[in-house]
Amino acid sequence: MSLRSLLTTGLLAAGALAAPPGYGGSTVTVTVTEKASCSASTSHSTSHSTSHSTSHSTSHSTSKASTPKTYATSTPSSSHSSTSSTLTSSSATSVTTTTSSAANTNASTTILATATSTSYGLNDAAKKAGKLWFGTALDVPGTGEAQDPYYIAEFDNIHDFGEATPANIMKYEFTEPEAGVFNYTGAEEFFTAAAGKAVRCHNLIWSSELPAFITAPTVPWTNATLTAALRRHVTTLVEHFGDRCYSLDVVNEAFSDSPAGAYSANVWYNTIGPAYVVEAFQAASDAVRANNLAVKLYYNDYNIEYLGNKSYAAQALVKDLKNRGIQIDGVGLESHFIAGETPAKAAQQANMEAFTALDVDVVVTELDVRLTLPPTVASESQQVVDYYNTVAACVAVPRCVGIVVWDFDDTYSWIPGTFPGQGYGDLFLQPGGANTPLVRKAPYDGVLEALTGAAEAN
Ligand code: G3I
Repeated sequence: MSLRSLLTTGLLAAGALAAPPGYGGSTVTVTVTEKASCSASTSHSTSHSTSHSTSHSTSHSTSKASTPKTYATSTPSSSHSSTSSTLTSSSATSVTTTTSSAANTNASTTILATATSTSYGLNDAAKKAGKLWFGTALDVPGTGEAQDPYYIAEFDNIHDFGEATPANIMKYEFTEPEAGVFNYTGAEEFFTAAAGKAVRCHNLIWSSELPAFITAPTVPWTNATLTAALRRHVTTLVEHFGDRCYSLDVVNEAFSDSPAGAYSANVWYNTIGPAYVVEAFQAASDAVRANNLAVKLYYNDYNIEYLGNKSYAAQALVKDLKNRGIQIDGVGLESHFIAGETPAKAAQQANMEAFTALDVDVVVTELDVRLTLPPTVASESQQVVDYYNTVAACVAVPRCVGIVVWDFDDTYSWIPGTFPGQGYGDLFLQPGGANTPLVRKAPYDGVLEALTGAAEAN
């Protein structure tokens, strides 16, 4: 029985765990253990307390086991009792989830130091797993997070984040606010903030965050005039950003969920038809070749993380572009998931392999796993498994070249603003709110376990 089956059949139901962590100040300890026939044993032990320590040891045995790790999930509370649940699957995978009122109440003052001085983190582990990096989106400059020293200190922690994606500042309305008038100020500040990290430039052509001259033109667009505007935007930005971008999301979210795989209606599609996607990639491809650039060209979308009509549509697009001799190097699998509704590791892996079979890379580009608030032991345990499965799928696919979370701190997550009543989807939180120390959450541990290959959760 898979770990997912164990969870969904109720063996890790909320009722089995008496003490929900909520936001009230408990800890979650997660152990993922896999028995392997003959392999090296890797152990990462991390404890959060007022005297934080992180240790790593490697030994050889016939089993792999990780020591339990305890992460504060919220602010201090004395009201929670201790409880635990241990699951063991027939495939020799076990997960132990423990909540307790452990007195790590003053940990926050040292946890920031942990976040900024960790000697081994997610990016280190990703690289060791053969990936290019583990990265994050962030919404800088000009936002609250850009001014939060604790947030920025963790972003700057190269042990955790070797890649940065601009959440907004490279989008059309910021880079070309008026027709033919390009503004690179924010994008350049982003490059400066991300110095030392790879940058996935996001995005060139999308239906959202467009300037008024595109959405409300004084003279109605024709196919020819809008195509010219699209090509100008793409060409100019490819040439300006150049190889400072590891990759460019040339087109974002072209396909619909209803009916799945159809083109979404938007100003581009409504005026140009499906050819707008080809035009955008043609312009990017031409600019890359004319300027002898190495930047990789990506298509990026959500609900293409599992096999289905929308994924098939994206696969057909890859084939079409390649048949036309147009450059496309990769597909971004956004991976905005919901705890308990995340595709299984095998399903994600099969989907990734369907893309890589077309001779493109894939990247998990916008990973987060949201919960219905408040979190419970069951939902947060599920969230750990869901993060684990997504990252483990990428680890299992050689041409899944990296993993990016869509911001790393609940304080600045896009989720609550878009899905009221949901959130808690990121790897860190700030118990004291903005401009206070960050605390690692249990999913951080699940991601690290997946990257170190310490267990098999599917
Ligand atoms: O810039 C204004 C600011 O002046 C104003 O004070 C503020 C008040 O709300 O709004 C600011 O604009 C917001 C912008 O983010 C910058 O923070 C917009 O209202 C808001 O709609 C916009 O949301 C962004 C969203 O894309 C736009 O659709 C999110 O931050 C961003 O995380 C999100 O990212 C997308 C990816 O690009 C594509 N995949 C899905 C992902 C999540 O929706």
